[in-house]
Amino acid sequence: MIGGLWRRPMPHEPDATVQNHRFAYRSPPMNVPAGPAGAPRQPPGASADAAEVPVAPPTLEVVDLHKRFGPDREVLAGIGLTLRAGERVALLGESGVGKSTLLNLVAGLERPDSGTIRLAGQPIHAMDEDAAARLRAREIGFVFQAFHLLPHLRLWQNVAIPLLLAGVPAAEARPRAEAMLARVGLGDRSLSMPRELSGGEQQRVALARALVHGPRLILADEPTGNLDPRTGGAALALIDEQVRAHGAALLMVTHSLQAAAIAERRLRLTPAGLETEA
Ligand SMILES: Nc1ncnc2c1ncn2[C@@H]1O[C@H](COP(=O)(O)OP(=O)(O)O)[C@@H](O)[C@H]1O
Ligand SMILES: [Mg+2]
Repeated sequence: MIGGLWRRPMPHEPDATVQNHRFAYRSPPMNVPAGPAGAPRQPPGASADAAEVPVAPPTLEVVDLHKRFGPDREVLAGIGLTLRAGERVALLGESGVGKSTLLNLVAGLERPDSGTIRLAGQPIHAMDEDAAARLRAREIGFVFQAFHLLPHLRLWQNVAIPLLLAGVPAAEARPRAEAMLARVGLGDRSLSMPRELSGGEQQRVALARALVHGPRLILADEPTGNLDPRTGGAALALIDEQVRAHGAALLMVTHSLQAAAIAERRLRLTPAGLETEA
């Protein structure tokens, strides 16, 4: 075994490193028994020697993405972006430039006009709605700018949704959801309804829901926008910890320097495209 399985890859490391083991065998061609939830899956007899690991595709690969709303509103004009396992990217840019649109496209919630979006090699841009929804439920945690909590469900039920969609039995999903609620400081609010919460509290529930299933890709749209600096710092630490624990990749829209500081890459979206920010 080379290094820790879940250590964060350095930017210079090639794809075929040991931390990609889990992903390399995500869709095994053979009869590979699934490990316990969250455990790495390997074919029988697989060795941990990095040299034998097949090259895993990037967690996210966006190529030449175009999106316009109506004839006159070209929002994204040829965006390219690659995120590898363990990478954290902050996405900056002026209001209205298309940051949320880019996240929605990546999550398969909107269709591009042209271009490709691959999630762990799978073309989410070309999938029908059901297939995209299944892939999204399994692989993506999305902290929406507007939270999108389900108003008629209790907090623990909101957080448990990704687990239930993944087929985790309710008896197991509830304690996991409640544990994640505790991680965002809302352990005693499990039975509350979303309307009983402040904006900042709702944002923390949205964060818990996005992280509870250990997604491969975390998309976060201004996840600290409604939080005070201390609570925001705790939320960022939790995101960071989850990225490390699961070898996830993070694409986070933010205006906050505090938030951008957890990313090793900062990109700015402008009408001309994505630019690397110093
Ligand atoms: N569904 C939509 N229909 C029409 N225009 C849209 C739609 N979604 C976003 N837009 C427009 O696309 C532009 C980018 O929006 P958005 O991605 O929300 O920007 P940002 O998140 O960077 O503030 C805005 O001008 C917005 O009005
Ligand atoms: Mg936005």
